[in-house]
Amino acid sequence: MILPQHELEDGRKQVQRMTAILEIHDLHVSYRSSGSELSPALKGVSFRLMPGEIMGVLGESGSGKSTLAGSLVRLLPGNALVTGGTVQFEGKDLLQANPDELQAIRGRHISLIFQEPSLALHPTIRVGEQVRQVLAAHGSRGKRTLNERTRQIFAEIFPEETDRISRSYPHQLSGGQRQRVLIAQAIACGPSVVVADEPTASLDPTTQMEILGVFRRLRERLGLAMIFITHNPALLSDFADHVLVLYAGEVAECGPAESVLGLPRHPYTKALFQSTPAVSGKPGTGRKAKLPVILGDSSRSSLPIRGCCFEPRCTERMEICKEREPSPANLSVSHTVSCFKYES
Ligand SMILES: Nc1ncnc2c1ncn2[C@@H]1O[C@H](COP(=O)(O)OP(=O)(O)OP(=O)(O)O)[C@@H](O)[C@H]1O
Ligand SMILES: [Mg+2]
Repeated sequence: MILPQHELEDGRKQVQRMTAILEIHDLHVSYRSSGSELSPALKGVSFRLMPGEIMGVLGESGSGKSTLAGSLVRLLPGNALVTGGTVQFEGKDLLQANPDELQAIRGRHISLIFQEPSLALHPTIRVGEQVRQVLAAHGSRGKRTLNERTRQIFAEIFPEETDRISRSYPHQLSGGQRQRVLIAQAIACGPSVVVADEPTASLDPTTQMEILGVFRRLRERLGLAMIFITHNPALLSDFADHVLVLYAGEVAECGPAESVLGLPRHPYTKALFQSTPAVSGKPGTGRKAKLPVILGDSSRSSLPIRGCCFEPRCTERMEICKEREPSPANLSVSHTVSCFKYES
């Protein structure tokens, strides 16, 4: 497998041969609504995550980001149905794994940080104990080993206040500190992949940047690969290696962060970028500037029956966009755009 291109210091390109740690191919997930009707949420999503890589997943509300996160560890609502595709982790298809195999993989190899931090912590148990329980549930034995490992994890995430934070109850911590406790739980068993579903959505811009700093350090120190889900492209610059843009359950664009964020090609990626405020400290639109909005919406009733799903909202639409769906066009070995403007 040839992926991806890395820029060398002298500017030459080197094509590295590496094996993906996670490979998603043609993933289809639907939700069963009233009766037996199925509503698609993911329609043929494919991408690869390399060891130690940060993949940013971008998209508006309802684009399928959480459905994708849940599919990767098979933690989906009861009415969700995976109707096709594969999710290969180190060569094994997680969609075919039995409950015991999945239990062994979750937390230990891939862990998920949920979108709602307030629901994830027990209010009356000290946070240190909550991390200790995660370790114990995944097979760590012996009081001393558990205590030592818990302390190591807290020292990694809270180097300055290791003991105080560990002894605190969730309500004694700030939102950013609670989010760090969830990160501590997620890394407790030494996974190689962390899937973080909008982990900073409820935090102020400064705390958001601090949390990104924690993730960055963990990647450097532990070599973690990460899928970082957000609706805010500004969070991904200087952070993600690759960016995948989801629109209505389909991949609109996927490629190296510097190309997708620096020169977005898909009309949806461009519109998403223009309609998002910059994070504080980043260049971009000022606080009071009026942001353009992407007119229309991506609700199921607004999606066209045929053609490109973004066509009704696209400012660059052509006749062909109404006729059929675009296939992903390769701009480079690792940058694809599903738009007729780039089809050869
Ligand atoms: N339990 C469910 N039952 C039925 N439909 C669902 C369910 N969960 C999600 N959906 C639908 O699936 C689609 C994708 O939802 P998903 O939660 O994955 O989007 P998202 O990108 O995570 O949105 P957000 O940014 O708001 O978190 C949406 O149309 C949503 O309404
Ligand atoms: Mg979501």
